[in-house]
Amino acid sequence: MSIPANADGLSGITTLTPQARRGFVETESVKSVTRRALAYLNSGFSVHFRGPAGTGKTTLALHTAALLGRPTVMITGDEEMVTSNLVGSQHGYNYRKVVDRFIHTVTKVEETADKRWADHRLTTACREGYTLIYDEFTRSRAEANNVLLGVLEEGLLVLPAHNQNEPYIKVHPEFRAIFTSNPQEYAGVHEAQDALGDRIVTIDVQHANRELEIAVTAARSGLSKAQVAPIVDLVREFRDTGEYDQTPTLRTSIMICRVVAQEKISPTVADPYFVQVCLDVLGSKSVFAGKTKGERLQQQKMLLKLIEHHCPAEARRPATAGKTARRTNGNGRDPVAVAAGGDGA
Ligand SMILES: Nc1ncnc2c1ncn2[C@@H]1O[C@H](COP(=O)(O)OP(=O)(O)OP(=O)(O)O)[C@@H](O)[C@H]1O
Ligand SMILES: [Mg+2]
Repeated sequence: MSIPANADGLSGITTLTPQARRGFVETESVKSVTRRALAYLNSGFSVHFRGPAGTGKTTLALHTAALLGRPTVMITGDEEMVTSNLVGSQHGYNYRKVVDRFIHTVTKVEETADKRWADHRLTTACREGYTLIYDEFTRSRAEANNVLLGVLEEGLLVLPAHNQNEPYIKVHPEFRAIFTSNPQEYAGVHEAQDALGDRIVTIDVQHANRELEIAVTAARSGLSKAQVAPIVDLVREFRDTGEYDQTPTLRTSIMICRVVAQEKISPTVADPYFVQVCLDVLGSKSVFAGKTKGERLQQQKMLLKLIEHHCPAEARRPATAGKTARRTNGNGRDPVAVAAGGDGA
């Protein structure tokens, strides 16, 4: 998604103008999700993309916002979020000084100071009919998000009492909200408020299927689909093992493939550099603390087997070579054993 930003002339809030990005991949499953999301939004409802990390929720939110074609404002939820971060707050004063010299011998000076109110993103979006993307909204506490209930249900944004000039604003008919959340996050997440959940349509986003993962990884790395396929399969099988602390996602495949493309690495087990990159990227999905040296070595061995299986040296060999012995890394040592810190015996 390319998102040129501009400050709208009215409030100084930066709005995004999401445009379909060249690298955006639309498989049938992606089309199905965006079609439904658009249908709900066009029918006047708000949409919530819910799914584990790295499943493409934020990308889908931006893409759907681009299809809606309205200026977009984006907020990311966090523990520190308070209602004033969403709607706005008092921000300094407007001073007015009137000097009255109607009678030249008498000067009357009248000074007033009004509290100045500054809109924040939700208020601007409601006022102007923009699209609001509220990324990771369940990271914010329920109290901060309560203001959304009136917006979604009554079409009214109630402003805090100290903004006496304007107690509430009527939500613009083109205002729409797109939420994302990760129900698997364990730190700093608040249950999606039931009341809020009742007013939005939730679409569950799953890990990309193989076709989508290959297409996205190729698009984001610049490698061909044939080149990324074995690496995607390697990451997917690692994901299936469950032997990690943090799920290897689509981003893991993209990461390895981008390094392979950037460094022009031969992506086979015969290249110790490739093996080490895989071990670094895949190994970082496991925490170091609380694991014995033996357990860490065990996991490294499992990863090496997966790399050997999905990215065999043979794949790059000329058809005439025919021998099954592993290619060595130039010093006669087995690259798998080198990466594992062993002696190849
Ligand atoms: N349809 C797609 N086309 C192109 N790239 C995609 C697509 N879907 C996902 N991606 C890429 O996959 C990666 C993960 O996507 P994204 O950040 O949207 O996931 P997420 O579910 O929001 O993750 P998190 O929960 O960690 O925020 C990004 O690099 C994104 O650009
Ligand atoms: Mg995201």
